[in-house]
Amino acid sequence: MKNNTLLGAALLAATLFACTGTLHAETPEVTMYKDPNCGCCAQWATHMREAGFAVKEVPSGEMSRIKRQLGVPEALGSCHTATVGNYVVEGHVPSADVKQLLADAPAQAHGLAVPGMPMGSPGMEGPYPADRYDVIRFDRDGTQAVFASH
Ligand code: CU
Ligand code: CU
Repeated sequence: MKNNTLLGAALLAATLFACTGTLHAETPEVTMYKDPNCGCCAQWATHMREAGFAVKEVPSGEMSRIKRQLGVPEALGSCHTATVGNYVVEGHVPSADVKQLLADAPAQAHGLAVPGMPMGSPGMEGPYPADRYDVIRFDRDGTQAVFASH
């Protein structure tokens, strides 16, 4: 009886540990740099929080410098720039795509971007018809490829 209890406690501890580990791996903290006057950024942060991410917002008046420092290719620029795990997320990237990148964890990838501000992307919902848009994966070696289309 006593052994069973101990075994049960050990299993429970192992399960809890495993669950916490998984949860953490799926939803690391997002740090989002944004212009203090940008409103759609806050709505993207809400979209990410609803998907389970903790989001820290860092207002900055020097977004182009931050994008350069974080290695966002100029042609892929949008409004806000975020870091999550080892990756950079530029603009209104859907949370599901961020989770997919984190799950795949490709070593050569630098991040994902939705260039510009397409209507209908997360945080850009509104009365206008939704645009089609691509999520671009950009790599450390300069390679860019379509990661997802919406
Ligand atoms: Cu925006
Ligand atoms: Cu923004």
